[in-house]
Amino acid sequence: MHIDRFERSWLIVVSIVLTMFFAALLAGAVIYSVRLPSPAGTYNPLRLNETEFASPGLRLIGETDTGRPYYEAHIVARRWNFDAGTTETLEGKPVMRVPVGAEVTFLIAAEDITHGFMIERHNLNVMAIPGQIARQSTTFDRPGRYAVLCHEYCGAGHQDMWMWLVVEDNTPTTTANHQTDD
Ligand code: CUA
Repeated sequence: MHIDRFERSWLIVVSIVLTMFFAALLAGAVIYSVRLPSPAGTYNPLRLNETEFASPGLRLIGETDTGRPYYEAHIVARRWNFDAGTTETLEGKPVMRVPVGAEVTFLIAAEDITHGFMIERHNLNVMAIPGQIARQSTTFDRPGRYAVLCHEYCGAGHQDMWMWLVVEDNTPTTTANHQTDD
């Protein structure tokens, strides 16, 4: 079979590139244990009140291996707010407070439609799909005020769907200013 010279070169180049991609994929999965996010559990969105999400909020669980205080935070996402079980508000939005140094595992349940959940300046960004518990952990090492945003368009009030996460230093009365520098 005749293969044109240029055609052959491209075939070789494409093969090498694909092999590299596949090797990177394998290395990620085997060496670095990279896994796609998967739901931490399921629930019936019509019966959320019969689950652990009936009383959302922050709960101290204990300590991590490295001595950090370890919390779990249950959050309900619905059009158009996050229910974090708190009554405190700041600029009209709910506030969740965590101490500096804490590690928090967030468990998020969407009550109606798909929402997003991301914390500004932290390594936490998940989708909240009705029926599937989204679960992700992060640590809070810098005191400050961070916006928690719904990043999935969810209708007319999407842009109002956010809350505050305040990382507190040891002195609980201090609320550091919203950080703009890094
Ligand atoms: Cu919820 Cu956008």
